[in-house]
Amino acid sequence: MTESAAPRDDARSNSESVVIFDTTLRDGEQSPGATMHLEDKLQVAEILDQMGVDIIEAGFPIASEGDFEAVAAIAERARNAGVAGLARAIEADIARCGEAVRKARRPRIHTFVSTSPIHLRHQMNKSEEQVLEIIARTVTQARNLVDDVEWSAMDATRTPIDYLCRCVEAAIRAGATTINLPDTVGYALPHEYEAMFRQVRERVPGTDKVVFSVHCHDDLGLAVANSLAGVAGGARQVECTINGLGERAGNAPLEEVVMAMRTRGDSLPFRTGIDATYLNRASKLVAAVASSPVQSNKAIVGRNAFAHESGIHQDGVLKNAQTYEIMTPASVGVTKTSLVMGKHSGRHAFKDKLRELGYELADNALADAFARFKNLADRKKVVYDEDLIALVDDEIVHAHDRIKLVDLTVFAGTRGPQSAVLTLAIDGEENTHQATGNGPVDAIFNAIQALVPHGATLELYQVHAVTKGTDAQAEVSVRLSEDGKTVTAKGADPDTLVASAKAYVASLNKLTMRRAKGRDALAS
Ligand code: KIV
Ligand code: ZN
Repeated sequence: MTESAAPRDDARSNSESVVIFDTTLRDGEQSPGATMHLEDKLQVAEILDQMGVDIIEAGFPIASEGDFEAVAAIAERARNAGVAGLARAIEADIARCGEAVRKARRPRIHTFVSTSPIHLRHQMNKSEEQVLEIIARTVTQARNLVDDVEWSAMDATRTPIDYLCRCVEAAIRAGATTINLPDTVGYALPHEYEAMFRQVRERVPGTDKVVFSVHCHDDLGLAVANSLAGVAGGARQVECTINGLGERAGNAPLEEVVMAMRTRGDSLPFRTGIDATYLNRASKLVAAVASSPVQSNKAIVGRNAFAHESGIHQDGVLKNAQTYEIMTPASVGVTKTSLVMGKHSGRHAFKDKLRELGYELADNALADAFARFKNLADRKKVVYDEDLIALVDDEIVHAHDRIKLVDLTVFAGTRGPQSAVLTLAIDGEENTHQATGNGPVDAIFNAIQALVPHGATLELYQVHAVTKGTDAQAEVSVRLSEDGKTVTAKGADPDTLVASAKAYVASLNKLTMRRAKGRDALAS
């Protein structure tokens, strides 16, 4: 490592360009409970487009009407990025995908088929020869619809290299322009993944005409290491997601891949088109809309990523930040928080504060958030950054909910029965119900059950304080399960009972979305 950890411009100018393919809205959305509304997806796509992502994989158009609509809307709106949709190696999938991305400046169809023996035998029930024929036929179909076709060998890392080479050759002959070799189950080790790319590139004719791509899952915590190894092996596209959101343990986090290349340009001579100052904001937005909080010690975007606790570290950082910081917080969009918020703070200071925290809200959302901040500041002496984050996350996540909490009065105490009078607006129509229960939370949940009858089971009810003190906001998490699917959602409020009601209602909203998606979805 060079003595100065700062990125070196001379290394940069000789560097090769790597395409960033973001799949937060497709693989990321496949993460349990991360289903997003159309409006949320549009917001995420907008920030990805602004930050310089080359390709946004916006969804899986055949999976549901909602996915099709989202891909089509993002295709129409993206100003800089190309837009891809995912399609299985099935004629109807590819046709639907072509239709969804049609209006993009740079439309891409991303089609995939499994190539590993275990998938062929147990999932597809197809022979190797049949799969080769499918690749040739479906890639040709996609190429007849768009010029930019990505083909993926699902479970490539568990596919014998000879057969993998034959599949890649068939895809290139049929006109694929990008060849993705995913580590679908997060099984590969970095040296193996690098070797796989080297071998395929050496052995298959025509590989100099296509871009190779990495797509790594994090089951062994190796997604970033494997992605970088794949690039060392000749891949020039990295598929990744904000915060590493994705199936099971997730995908390679975009922010880590980008900052590794940037910070270690001395040994990784690659550059991306990403403006890293957007990373913090993108992370906050995705965490909020996917209801998937970022762990505090997460690299680059975790709350503690730039916090120095020990005296020796603090001393060093005060003398020269480079003693313990290999990147500046500002380089990833974390600015020093300077404004203290309270009930006298005005709209302008509120907006500036949110920007410091990484949020940029549209006018209406800002007005709503400001009204809720004023309400909170009246009830709490000091409004901490964590309070604002909880409040704004709540605003972003619940802006498009069908079921909304309007009013709640609870009778609690030592003399039972505890009861709750609750008013909900369901698709704009208000209804009130009074219920009793075994404690106030049970009474609230019974009232909700009466107003929104459902068969879901309550799997988790958890309360934690957002900050210290008895006036701290409570953040409640509620997990519901129905037909083997689970959803988790949160609600925040200084009143724990109100937070509980909000969290339960939020979970029901997610369940409603999930049901709608499930109804449309095709069996894969
Ligand atoms: O992990 C995987 O193999 C995928 C493919 C659909 C590219 O997500
Ligand atoms: Zn994947």
